[in-house]
Parts: sequence; structure tokens; C-alpha cells
Amino acid sequence: MTYKNLLLKKEGNVSILSINREKALNALNSEVLDELSCAIDELSEDKNTYVVVLTGEGRSFVAGADIGEMSSLNAEEARTFAKKGLDTFRKLELMEKPVIAAVNGFALGGGCELSLACDIRLASSKAKFGQPETGLGITPGFAGTQRLPRLVGTGLAKELIYTAKTIGADEALRIGLVNAVYEPEALMEEALKLANEIASKGQLAVRYAKAAINHGVETDLDTGMEVERNVFGLCFATEDQKEGMKAFLEKRPAEFKCK
Ligand code: HXC
Repeated sequence: MTYKNLLLKKEGNVSILSINREKALNALNSEVLDELSCAIDELSEDKNTYVVVLTGEGRSFVAGADIGEMSSLNAEEARTFAKKGLDTFRKLELMEKPVIAAVNGFALGGGCELSLACDIRLASSKAKFGQPETGLGITPGFAGTQRLPRLVGTGLAKELIYTAKTIGADEALRIGLVNAVYEPEALMEEALKLANEIASKGQLAVRYAKAAINHGVETDLDTGMEVERNVFGLCFATEDQKEGMKAFLEKRPAEFKCK
């Protein structure tokens, strides 16, 4: 499918999805959110895509939800707009395949929230993170109040959200908001290296692990361990498990087939 506001490139088993609305620093309006939702479906169904890298065109990852579109909404319309983003980001978070955010520039408001719905965040040294909503007289609306404290802790999330301040990549690394920071020109290469490393493993195992982690962080330890036990058992119904263990015993690299 072709998109007006997205670029989709496939390189082997890795797909690069780039938000392409540069004139508004990739701000998310309803149209971009709808396209993002379609692209997630497309990538979920694409058997050749094992890992997704999400980034933005130009100097921004995503500078937030579209302030122009939001400015004239009434309360019910604002709730509807929030739901569109919440549902889309949740779909991204729950897609079976891992998603790496390559945060190349501004990740503000809805942009920071979009990165939070990804499995792993890598940042350019030029990236800027923040939840500027209180400066606009609104709260975060694409789950920043929920995912940010889960990732960096309540105290830091409250400070970021209450002050609306923007932080740089090094501070984002220090508080655990991103996994690593790279020079701008190295970011995509490093993101692809990580994506390919993940893509070289048993994909069903990677997907089961993602599901178990996602489930586990939202439940009690005993329930989480039961989920882990079940996906562990499921691995033994896959060809990948047989190949992975056989290859180890035969002292050769495994050839996984995602089966
Ligand atoms: C609409 C935006 C935008 C946004 C930037 N633009 N961010 N348009 N919505 N969120 C547009 C600008 O209006 C401008 O358009 C063009 O992009 C370039 O931006 P500039 O401001 O000229 O660039 P610069 O001076 O470099 O400043 C970059 C910036 C600033 C610091 C990122 O643009 C900014 O503060 N943007 C808003 C960030 C923000 O508050 N995000 C949170 C939104 S609320 P023109 O036509 O003038 O060239 C949110 C809520 C999520 O995300 C939940 C919703 C339910």
C-alpha cells in the first residue's frame, strides 16, 4: 500500500517505517494516525517482516499531536481524537513483532508517547524528548501519563509532565528513557544492526518473549510466571526450537524458519 504521510521500506526481514510530514515536523493529525494504523496492520501481516524500525523524516521524529487540528476540538471530539492515538499506539505495542524507535529529532508530546509504545528506543544525540502538554493547558493524551511512569518511574515522569520541559538525548539515556544514543549519521545504521541481530534469532521465541514481557509488566509476578511457563512450553511445538538446539549440539549456526 502507498501512504501520503508515511514511507515504508523493506530491507530483508527488517521494515523501516518513517513518518513523512516534514512541513509540520511529522506532527500527528488524524490522517497520519489512520495511516499509521493501516501500516501496523500491513507489517503485522507481512510474513517477511520480522522487526520494524520506526523513525521520522527530516529533523523530527514526531513533534506531537497536531496542535492546529486539536485547537478547535470540543471535549467529546478531544476524547475521540485521543482514542484514535491510544488505539493506534496500543496496536503498535501489542503487535507480535518487535518495534525499534530510531528517534532522530524531536519526540515531544504524542511523539514521545509514540516512542514509548515501541519495544526499544535508540536516540540520535540531537533528539529531544518531553511532554510539553501542560504548557498548552492540556494533559498528555496518548498514554504519556501511563507509559512514562512505568518506564522511568513516577517521580521523574511527574517532573517531566508537570514542568513540560524538554530533555536532551543524554538525559533521556540517564533516566532510562532510551537504550542508547548515537551520532545522527550513525543512528539508522545502529538501529538496523540491532534489528538484524534480533531478526537472526528464532522469531517465534522473540514474539513469545515480547508477549510475556508485555503481559508480565501489567500483572502480578505469579500470573506473569505462568504466562512465561506457557510460552516456554509453546516454543517446544516450533521447528525453531528443534533447529536451535540441534544446531547448538552440532556446533553450527542455527537456520531459523519462523515455524
Ligand atoms: C502542528 C506543528 C507541531 C505540532 C511543529 N509544528 N510542531 N504543527 N502540531 N505539534 C509545525 C510548526 O507550526 C511549523 O509550521 C513547523 O512545524 C516547524 O516548526 P517550528 O516551530 O517553526 O520549528 P522550531 O522553531 O525549530 O521549533 C520546533 C519545536 C516547535 C520546538 C518542535 O515546533 C514546537 O514546540 N512544536 C510543538 C511541540 C508540542 O507542543 N508538542 C506537543 C503537542 S500536544 P509552519 O507552518 O509555521 O512552518 C500533544 C498531545 C498528544 O502531542 C495527545 C493528544 C490526544
